[in-house]
Amino acid sequence: MKSFGCQMNVYDAARMTDLLAGEGYGETASEEDADLVILNTCHIRERAAEKIYSELGKLAVLKRERAEAGRDFKIVVAGCVAQAEGELVLRRQKAVDVVVGPQSYQHLPRLLRRAAEGARLTDTDFAVEEKFRDLPKPTRAQIAARGVSAFVTVQEGCDKFCSFCVVPYTRGAEVSRDVAQVVTETKRLVDAGVREITLIGQNVNAYRGEDSLGDPWPLERLLEHLSDIDGLERLRYTTSHPVDMTQGLIDAHGALPKLMPFVHLPVQSGSDRVLKAMNRRHSAQDYLDIVARLRAARPDVALSSDFIVGFPGETDADFEETLALIRAVGFASTFSFKYSPRPGTPGAEREDHIADEIMRERLAILQGLVETQRQAFNTATVGRVVNILFEKRGRHDGQIAGKSPYMQPVHVFGPPELVGRVLPAKITAAGSNSLSGEIVQGQEQG
Ligand code: SAH
Ligand code: SF4
Ligand code: F3S
Repeated sequence: MKSFGCQMNVYDAARMTDLLAGEGYGETASEEDADLVILNTCHIRERAAEKIYSELGKLAVLKRERAEAGRDFKIVVAGCVAQAEGELVLRRQKAVDVVVGPQSYQHLPRLLRRAAEGARLTDTDFAVEEKFRDLPKPTRAQIAARGVSAFVTVQEGCDKFCSFCVVPYTRGAEVSRDVAQVVTETKRLVDAGVREITLIGQNVNAYRGEDSLGDPWPLERLLEHLSDIDGLERLRYTTSHPVDMTQGLIDAHGALPKLMPFVHLPVQSGSDRVLKAMNRRHSAQDYLDIVARLRAARPDVALSSDFIVGFPGETDADFEETLALIRAVGFASTFSFKYSPRPGTPGAEREDHIADEIMRERLAILQGLVETQRQAFNTATVGRVVNILFEKRGRHDGQIAGKSPYMQPVHVFGPPELVGRVLPAKITAAGSNSLSGEIVQGQEQG
């Protein structure tokens, strides 16, 4: 199982692995040992999609070698490339046996049985509700093997249609899972040792899952309800859209101690003209207002964002406005990309595309600025005592590694028994990618 792209894919990959465990499959570390390879793909940028075809080329060679040795080898393409390109994947790469979309992978056992008989198949139905209903529940051992921090998908799909983005086409319309389903899944994870839950969705703050009476709950109500689960130490949610950042959700950051002070809130651009062309439906000022209200509710909240440089028509002045927004906010971490035209999206139809050279320049400038901010944020943590959820052994002997409330990786010296515990640590140094600290003796904190 090889997964690319976003957290939604990480979650789906785990569900597919669990599903196929019931069919007698176990995960291998490399394709060399595998009888079946699943590429769980991403279509968000051109390079992501092209990478899949080069991976498939290598797998096709492996498949030929296997066939010569008289051994079977099946190749499945799942995820968003599967959804976007469907049958085309089978035509472009003859070695592929099954193409299955992100809303229909619950059919994998049946598809693989037919593939074993020699069929080549595509299944890209949108069957989200059926998917969640039919997937097997992970066992305690499967949950434990994935560590103390887990994702729970609460919402799928997107109705926003930003003019650069393929997600509404690959993941379909917005669908929220019922409250009861989310609660049951979360409790199951916590019972098996999970201490941190990240609720995920392409537009997680548009969550409107129904309770048993059919009333739709906003995300903050779900978070408040999940907060009451004993043993659950931390809650997070991602990815949010600025227009769905309601005052209720903002207030939850002040009211719920388990809700971590870190919000990933993609803004894409700081220019109103570009935001409008992107169909983002908010202004730069709206974004700054949200940030101010978040900080009023929870003064230590850390912000993270996504940026696209070189959207068609973006001028130097527009780009300067993006830099100004970044300076005004001060981000703890960010992702930034050159605009990549995606087939079928309105952005791709435009005639005022920006030269790659200019995109590269702008990206370098933007990344220089956000890197300075990230380092400043990390350095500001040095000397503070922050709670760390320990997740695993560290790279060096005697070390354990975990995360601060602000998603910073932190290493300390300590016994592996502390994995799964939240303990205060004094941060002693900030390296380029992680912090070092020392556990502070005393009371365990939440
Ligand atoms: N649902 C999230 C983002 C999903 S995609 C949101 O609304 O923000 C993750 C990130 O990929 C986006 O935030 C955007 O910055 C980037 N992205 C999406 N489409 C892109 C494209 N065509 N070219 C470059 N970057 C893109
Ligand atoms: Fe894509 Fe926009 Fe939907 Fe995010 S909100 S998934 S960027 S269309
Ligand atoms: Fe990629 Fe699909 Fe996620 S396109 S970013 S894997 S929703």
